Amino acid sequence: MKRVSLFLSALLCMTIGTMAFAQVQVGVVLPTKDEPRWIQDQTRFQDALKTAGINAQVLFSQGDSAKEKANVESLISAGAKVIIICPQDGSAAAAAADEARAAGVKVISYDRLILGTASVDYYVTFDSFAVGAAWGQFLVSKATGKANHLYLYAGAASDNNAFIFFAGAWSVLQPKIADGTFVIKNSSEAVKLQKKATLTRDEESKIIGQVTTNWQFADAKNKAEANLTSAKKADKGTVYIEAPNDGTARAIADAFAADKDVTKYYITGQDAEIASLQYIIDGKQSMTVFKDVRTLCADAIAAAVVYSQGKTPVQTATYDNGKIKVPAKPSAIITVTKENLKAAIVDSGYLTADKFTGL
Ligand code: BGC
Repeated sequence: MKRVSLFLSALLCMTIGTMAFAQVQVGVVLPTKDEPRWIQDQTRFQDALKTAGINAQVLFSQGDSAKEKANVESLISAGAKVIIICPQDGSAAAAAADEARAAGVKVISYDRLILGTASVDYYVTFDSFAVGAAWGQFLVSKATGKANHLYLYAGAASDNNAFIFFAGAWSVLQPKIADGTFVIKNSSEAVKLQKKATLTRDEESKIIGQVTTNWQFADAKNKAEANLTSAKKADKGTVYIEAPNDGTARAIADAFAADKDVTKYYITGQDAEIASLQYIIDGKQSMTVFKDVRTLCADAIAAAVVYSQGKTPVQTATYDNGKIKVPAKPSAIITVTKENLKAAIVDSGYLTADKFTGL
């Protein structure tokens, strides 16, 4: 009798579990198809959603906040109960989040934080400060002596992450600028602030205003070329470049490689994009920061399932979005160079070896 009731209650739990699982309607909104990073996320989401047995739409905003809002509205109309949004523009996305909240939909901010609204339930992200710190540590580890040439580049000012990455890098680089190891070559605003160990958002804005790539490859290339045109021969030779992600790193690296007065360059990146991993193998990019997108998708989906059960997802940190402290779960990052690329990327099962030549 006892065994039968145990069996029945186990069955009941399983059924309720499956029901909750099957019922959760999830929508995903990603910023653009034009960057490999977000195609990675789409693929990983599709895999993870399939494994979890969840039917979900993954929509793209194509760099347009109006399209993003329309995407969120169409997901609400389609009956989504949880919407996972990676905002194109952190502040502009607040209106879409508010609409979702008003419709009783849970909003999960994905990778990038939605700013200036209380309508964000949860934030899954990587430790973006650690990403920037990893760039700084890498560049510092390659520098010897004094007065090494430092070129700074940043992401888009509409993306909160760009500020966190920059702050992380500054936390490591600034002491080395202050002690004369590095000299900043391409930002008068950064030079003005170089004695300050930590920067306010406004101060960071001034620097980012000068060195932004807008996360665009063409902008990155143009800015690097303009910097190289105005730099003197004495500002070149061996250079150290803080590039904010893999796409812009390749564009900036190509510009520096094409300058005959640049004899050697060290350049950072992030996202472990296939093209950049190949650049690292080929000695054209120095490092990338591997952010295992499988973890982020799994965390977002787990949170969606937990919400469908009326519970609250695991919180390990909070991020202030200017309105509230958003419960969050940041994930660890890994620095990848030529030395550990095979172990970190291929042996870990993230990408297969056939994607690369000369590994
Ligand atoms: C992401 C990066 C990405 C960048 C440009 C950031 O918010 O964290 O992984 O490279 O946006 O899309």
